[in-house]
Amino acid sequence: MRFDPWNPEFVAHPYDVYNELRRERPVSFFEPTGQWLIARHADVNALLRDRRLGRSYLHVATHQEFGRPDDPGFQDPFWRVVRAGMLDVEPPVHTRLRRLVSKAFTPRMVEALRPKVARIAGELVDRFAERGGGDLIAEVAEPLPVTVIAEMLGVPEADRHLLRPWSADICGMYELHPSIEAQHTAVRAAEEFSDYLVGLARARRADPGDDLISALALVADEGDKLTEEELVGTCVLLLNAGHEATVNVTGNGWWSLFRNPAELERLRADHGLLPTAIEELMRWDTPLQMFERWVLEDITVGGVDIPRGTEVALLFGSANRDPEVFADPDRLDVGRVDNPHISFGAGIHFCLGAPLARIELIESFGALLRRAPKLELTAEPSWGPGYIIRGLTSLDVRV
Ligand code: HEM
Repeated sequence: MRFDPWNPEFVAHPYDVYNELRRERPVSFFEPTGQWLIARHADVNALLRDRRLGRSYLHVATHQEFGRPDDPGFQDPFWRVVRAGMLDVEPPVHTRLRRLVSKAFTPRMVEALRPKVARIAGELVDRFAERGGGDLIAEVAEPLPVTVIAEMLGVPEADRHLLRPWSADICGMYELHPSIEAQHTAVRAAEEFSDYLVGLARARRADPGDDLISALALVADEGDKLTEEELVGTCVLLLNAGHEATVNVTGNGWWSLFRNPAELERLRADHGLLPTAIEELMRWDTPLQMFERWVLEDITVGGVDIPRGTEVALLFGSANRDPEVFADPDRLDVGRVDNPHISFGAGIHFCLGAPLARIELIESFGALLRRAPKLELTAEPSWGPGYIIRGLTSLDVRV
């Protein structure tokens, strides 16, 4: 098999191809997308921190200067929202936006949320166990992070069912070569989501609560620190980034444990292994397989010259199995201590929500281990079509 992100077989098991790429072609050109694939941990890690690359080039060049077509006009509402969030901008705008939001995500602030996260996880798992099981993804993995981030932001309970579909539709645009239908769906979702948030932010400005949207709406009022567009972009980013990957780590993680029964038994016998187990599950089956960067100045990677104006595709899933960094990398080891995985990224865009994601995962895996000590699979799961955001469609289990 070859690197082929549109082939379901490759998506289900990309790791042999990665092993070959790292060994034989650690920097290789991938014709179908015109990107350079970067397979080794050291290179992925270095490029994420290298300021000669960026998530965007629009702060230093136009589409024409980079030899790229203009975005099709119908996509405007999508890009307006996405390019107003910190993930798709570079300094100095990135620095300003990240500073505004990071106060809510310091390890201390997030640690204070642990009892609430534990309560929500406990309630979801109790209900799941009382029913004897079901689809772990729909009933536990999704509602936990969606509820947590919605509460942080202050999205009313009655509206929360809207968030997951909007987010999934928007994220459809992040896959490689999305279909025209997926593009229209993403644009529509971005429009609806942003109208909703504009309304909510205006309501909060008039009647502030103890939540992040109120806090950001008040900052936006103060002057030039945050525009309304940036406020909306920030909230959309937090709502999307705040749950998509966590859902997939939960689903992929349990599926990894079921495929490695000795490791599952080890974890069942010693819940104290949970913190290392969560890191290992994120390494062993990486939820976000690839991130892209634009090359803003000529660079050389592993002896290969990569010119300004091209794009590199950083293969996180491959970096996380690199034998130069991880002992016996294809083995799942829930007690692995030396584990510098790259699943939360690195450099200026390093995941802002990492401390929160870790708490959510430890609490939900912990609640399931305690309340469902004999959890078992009832059907073979299947992978969704996404390669970049890679996860199972469902995970049917019995308690
Ligand atoms: C296991 C779950 C998660 C994983 C694997 C993950 C992974 C990542 C990665 C790899 C990036 C960097 C992307 C890049 O460099 O191109 C990122 C950025 C980000 N993540 Fe996460 N994330 C997770 C959970 C969360 C949560 C729970 C939140 C918020 C509540 C969050 C908020 C963000 C934000 C705001 C950024 C953008 C940071 C910036 O541009 O400075 N993430 N995440």
